[in-house]
Amino acid sequence: MSFRRKIVAGNWKMNNSLSEALNLIDGILSNLDTRTTAEIIVCPAYTFIGPIINHLKDFNRIKLGAQNCSEHVSGAYTGEVSAQMLKSIECDYVIIGHSERRIYFNETNTQLKEKIKRALENGLAPIFCVGEKMEERKNRTHFNLVRDQIKNVLSSFKAKELEKLIIAYEPVWAIGTGVTATSAEAQEMHVFIRQIISELFDQEFARELPILYGGSCNPQNAKELFSCDDVDGGLIGGASLKANDFCSIIQSF
Ligand code: 13P
Repeated sequence: MSFRRKIVAGNWKMNNSLSEALNLIDGILSNLDTRTTAEIIVCPAYTFIGPIINHLKDFNRIKLGAQNCSEHVSGAYTGEVSAQMLKSIECDYVIIGHSERRIYFNETNTQLKEKIKRALENGLAPIFCVGEKMEERKNRTHFNLVRDQIKNVLSSFKAKELEKLIIAYEPVWAIGTGVTATSAEAQEMHVFIRQIISELFDQEFARELPILYGGSCNPQNAKELFSCDDVDGGLIGGASLKANDFCSIIQSF
């Protein structure tokens, strides 16, 4: 376990109705060991962020994140949601560059860079996702791919601007498949990511940066993954939809 911040974020993806979302939050509240030192984030669909914040009232141990934001500031972009809108409802985090958005919505590095800029301008913490597909791992091009994903999006920023940045390493082949990266594979990539960040910025910044693992993380494997020196927590999909599982992952440090 590392000396860095510990973070568990639930990415609910396109799941739940409003009442199911509020039930899930209630389930998390009743299962949560409030002595946990981990930062807890839930990222529901846009529509549920405001209602969940209202529902939580003054209980501030659970923070809210969005799953995406627009690369534009405001204006005629029908269907889009801006970082400023998210900030205005007290949303604190935003997932940027999830592989599902890269793959199904063709999000490009140029767009991701703009999205991160919009997030930072509005004081949101970006959870920037990177990770390779299975064929890239098989070809042994996964390190180059992850290096490019990071460099192409982050190199134009200064370390000072990226103080709120969180990186999530999510190998595409592990997402929703039940196949998790081994702790050795996760640790190896997290060290590599920290190295890239150190080369792009500086050692101090790289040492402090939280890097989360995502991809079929569950209560059975979380402890081993989180025990790796460079794994600072998880970005959880399926298991974040079950209050018990999510809370037991939070308790896995
Ligand atoms: P699963 O935990 O369902 O594999 O999803 C991971 C993920 O995509 C989180 O962003």
